[in-house]
Amino acid sequence: MIQDNNKQDEMEKLLKLNMVEITEKTARKIAEKLRDELEKYNHYYYIKNDPLITDAEYDLLFRKLEALEKRFPSLIIENSPTQRIGAPIEGGFNTLQHGEKMLSLQDVFDYDELRDFIKRVSKDLSIPPGEIDFVCELKIDGSAISVVYEDGIFARGATRGDGVIGEDITSNLKTINTIPLRLQKAKDEGVPDILEVRGEVYLAKEEFVRINTRREEEGISTFANPRNAAAGSLRQIDPGMTAKRKLNVFIYTAVLVPGIKIQSHFKMLEFLRGLGFRVNPHVRKVRGIEQIKEYVESWKDRRKDLSYETDGIVIKVDKFSLQQALGQTSRNPRWAAAYKFPPEQETTRIKKIIVSVGRTGALTPVAELEPVKVAGSTVAHATLHNEDEIRRKDVMIGDWVIIHKAGDVIPEIVKVITEKRNGTQTAFKMPDICPVCYSKAIRPEGEVALRCPSIACPAQQFEKIVHFASKGGMDIDGLGPAIIEKLLEKNLINNVS
Ligand code: IVH
Repeated sequence: MIQDNNKQDEMEKLLKLNMVEITEKTARKIAEKLRDELEKYNHYYYIKNDPLITDAEYDLLFRKLEALEKRFPSLIIENSPTQRIGAPIEGGFNTLQHGEKMLSLQDVFDYDELRDFIKRVSKDLSIPPGEIDFVCELKIDGSAISVVYEDGIFARGATRGDGVIGEDITSNLKTINTIPLRLQKAKDEGVPDILEVRGEVYLAKEEFVRINTRREEEGISTFANPRNAAAGSLRQIDPGMTAKRKLNVFIYTAVLVPGIKIQSHFKMLEFLRGLGFRVNPHVRKVRGIEQIKEYVESWKDRRKDLSYETDGIVIKVDKFSLQQALGQTSRNPRWAAAYKFPPEQETTRIKKIIVSVGRTGALTPVAELEPVKVAGSTVAHATLHNEDEIRRKDVMIGDWVIIHKAGDVIPEIVKVITEKRNGTQTAFKMPDICPVCYSKAIRPEGEVALRCPSIACPAQQFEKIVHFASKGGMDIDGLGPAIIEKLLEKNLINNVS
């Protein structure tokens, strides 16, 4: 971003001066060139993580294009980088038919089942298992999408739907910066006339936590996992809302690529990468069950360090000719399988249920647990979200429960082990007053949470200051919850101002 105001004024003047005598024909040419350039810089910034120009330089080009389009509105095309965020959709989503059916994957849950899959493939192909190339990939836990490019330009995109017909989410997909609006010129093959790619749109774990924290504060229902959050974000009727969710994508396959000479999945992924798609970097070509197992083993622990959730490993026969020979069932390709990681869950007991007061006054019940280790860290609390959720899950104080971490981060109760109840469990009821300032709690219409209505509530003030000083706020070094608590205690501060 440009920091210097004088410089900015100067740039604006330059932009205007340059355009005084320009004809529409010239403007069109310049706009086309600018779009190509912006798309290239976008690619280097978002996909290659290797920016070619500074933010200020990008900004200048972007505003130049915006200025041209403003002056000659007839130049505006749907796929201009200036049009990533379009108008809200009216009357619901249209449907789109997929060029080829969007299949799902056969799941395998252990190495015996994995071995059976390899054996079946080997038998059907009459090739020894050690001589078949497989590609191993991470199974991204998000929402499947399909995008069609015509002459290298993003034409439309859809959800999976029932596999044959999906919902037209073109304008929402366009808000995702890592989905190219126009393709890079590929070296060997050129850009195909028509190209349909498939991939997984996902939310990073951090983004999932940010969205859910915000929703909980606002008293609206939270998403159970990043997959649901991604799917929900893709179906917003206002693309502006989708854009705010910071979705991302990994493209894992292409269908309908007439005339292309590529003969294997691995090569296809390289080709797609060359066209500017975001392809997962952890793709490996392997041979034989041992190498597949090595790949799976290597991710069992490491997956928790990824910034996104993966729920398994996808194993695909590499050569297209072999894929074709194996064919597909009505639901799954016979040349691929998904090894599913077991969910990271633990059993523990609810000691008591406390009520916390959030920044905006939302009262949230929180289970205090016998500490237990889940997915690498000790968990002693789990949010219960709200009273409806407690009823739905039938949670009582003293219950034995199975817990996991939603989005690998937020501890949550999966279910109550009701068989373990022994008569000592007691029902929990939300208080009708704020546990901190004793104001009478209210339940605003349309919200799931009870609220403390008092803006003077010390708990709210505390949370507001914590939020203000936090990384996402003013990022004040050293001013964390512990110090803030002390400052409030000693009456040295009262509120944010
Ligand atoms: S390949 C024809 N590769 O997992 C095979 N799928 O039931 C199509 N998924 O919803 C799928 N990561 O969207 C493939 N690397 C990956 C994947 C992947 C996630 C999703 C896919 C589908 C589900 C499979």
